[in-house]
Amino acid sequence: MPLPKAVRRLTPDRLRDDPRLRGLAVGAGLIPPRALHSPAEAAAIARLAAGRRRVVEIGVYEGASALVLAGVLGDDADLHLVDPFVDASGYALPPGWGAMAGATQRVLARAGRRAASGPRVHWHVAPSDAVGRAWQGPVDLVFVDGDHSEEGCRLDWELWHPHVVPGGVVAFHDARASQPGGDGGPGPTAVVDGLFRGAAPLAGWTIVDETDRLVAVELVR
Ligand SMILES: C[S@@+](CC[C@H](N)C(=O)[O-])C[C@H]1O[C@@H](n2cnc3c(N)ncnc32)[C@H](O)[C@@H]1O
Repeated sequence: MPLPKAVRRLTPDRLRDDPRLRGLAVGAGLIPPRALHSPAEAAAIARLAAGRRRVVEIGVYEGASALVLAGVLGDDADLHLVDPFVDASGYALPPGWGAMAGATQRVLARAGRRAASGPRVHWHVAPSDAVGRAWQGPVDLVFVDGDHSEEGCRLDWELWHPHVVPGGVVAFHDARASQPGGDGGPGPTAVVDGLFRGAAPLAGWTIVDETDRLVAVELVR
C-alpha cells in the first residue's frame, strides 16, 4: 500500500533523493517510481509502443516509463530493459540521484503480477553500448533515455538503429531543447538536430512525434 502523498511531502529532499532509501521504499511499493517524463510524454510513449512486439528501453531508473511500456504491450511482446544502474558518464541523472536494480525489478514484477496480460520482461543490467554491440534480432521500438551526453546518445543511435525494422521507431527523450516550447538536454538535442533536422536530414527516417522533450523518428517502410 503506497504512503499517502501528504505524508511523502513531509520528507526532506535529502532523504527523498537518497538512492538507498528510495530503493527500499520503491521496491517495497511504499512510494511510486519517480516519473521523469510528463503525462503527455507518457501518452506519446504508450501510443508509440501500442501493438509492438520487440521493445527496448535504454535507461530505466525506477521504472516509471517501463511501466508505461509494459502497460500497453501484449502477451506476445518482449520488453528489454537496459540500465547498468550506475551513471558512469554523470550525464544521465542529477548529481546524487540513482536507482537500485533490485528495487526497479520488483516494481516491474509487481505490475506484471497485477496485470491480466503483459509482455515478457528481459533485464540487461549493463550499459547500453555493451548490450547493443552483442544484440541480435529485429526491434520495433527503441526508447533512448540513458546516457544523456552527446557521445553516449549518439552511440545509442549508432548501435541500435540498425536493428530497427521498417515502420519501427526510435524515440529520444530530452531531445527538444532547440525547439519552441520544447525542452531537454544539450546532448540528445544535438544528436537529434544533427541527424533529423536542418538542410540535410538523414534519408529514410522521418520525425513522427514531438511531445514536450520527446522526439520519435520512424524508419520509412
Ligand atoms: C533519465 S533516467 C531514465 C528514466 C526512465 N526512462 C523513466 O522515464 O522513468 C536515466 C537512466 O539511465 C541510466 N544510464 C546511465 N548510463 C547508461 C548507459 N550507458 N546505458 C543504459 N542506461 C544508462 C541511469 O542509470 C538512469 O537510471
